Amino acid sequence: MSHILDKIKKDIKRTDKVIDFGCDDGLDLFSFHDFGFKILIGLDTNEELKYFIFKKFVQYKYEMDENGFADTRPKDRIVDLRKRYPKYWDEFDCCFSFIFDKKAGNILNYNFGEEKYDFIIASRLLHFFDRGRAEDQIERLYDSLNTNGIFYFSVNTLDKTKKGLEKGWIIERNSSGEYIGYNSEKPSNLWYLYDDLKLNYLQSKYKTLKSVSNDRSSEGQFVIIKN
Ligand SMILES: C[S@@+](CC[C@H](N)C(=O)[O-])C[C@H]1O[C@@H](n2cnc3c(N)ncnc32)[C@H](O)[C@@H]1O
Repeated sequence: MSHILDKIKKDIKRTDKVIDFGCDDGLDLFSFHDFGFKILIGLDTNEELKYFIFKKFVQYKYEMDENGFADTRPKDRIVDLRKRYPKYWDEFDCCFSFIFDKKAGNILNYNFGEEKYDFIIASRLLHFFDRGRAEDQIERLYDSLNTNGIFYFSVNTLDKTKKGLEKGWIIERNSSGEYIGYNSEKPSNLWYLYDDLKLNYLQSKYKTLKSVSNDRSSEGQFVIIKN
């Protein structure tokens, strides 16, 4: 079961709809499905993932059901796997919607409309945006929760990133005073780190915000419950 559920399953009241931004290979959503969520939506800007997502599901399910490795091969197409694992296809097809697209899969472009969710995930994503853009996203996500809905997010924090700083990594303040971290070999790939100032601001705005764990390397993990 995903580490997210491990930490907060006692707070979950409804299991209708979950959406995961930056869902990567879908592993978190797969375990939310096992937990009982019925409509599961994943978005990511990585377009390659669309070729592998069903294979990932087959591998995940097989491991859970059979405690072994599924019969998948590097050149398998979705249609091959559908034939080999029709039961898993039915389960995948009924419940999951994935958007893997540079534009449509980008959290910044997602249009929530009137939709409301019981659970929203943004795991290891929001530190890619500067403070203003990240706070706008948090507000949008919070507004899209049902009452008692849960927003989970994890971000790289200043403290933990400093502690585990690897060779070649630099932390400095930008012209807005925000702490940023980057690898000197890839300086365009910035982490906008979370320090006490940013976290205290969020805490004052969202009274139900709480930290759920501090055991992953450079991340802080948080939930906000909508009331
Ligand atoms: C560090 S990974 C985290 C994956 C997964 N959520 C987890 O916690 O294991 C970040 C993911 O976010 C995706 N991503 C990056 N920028 C994004 C954006 N603006 N909108 C949606 N997804 C994005 C990347 O393609 C990648 O799969």
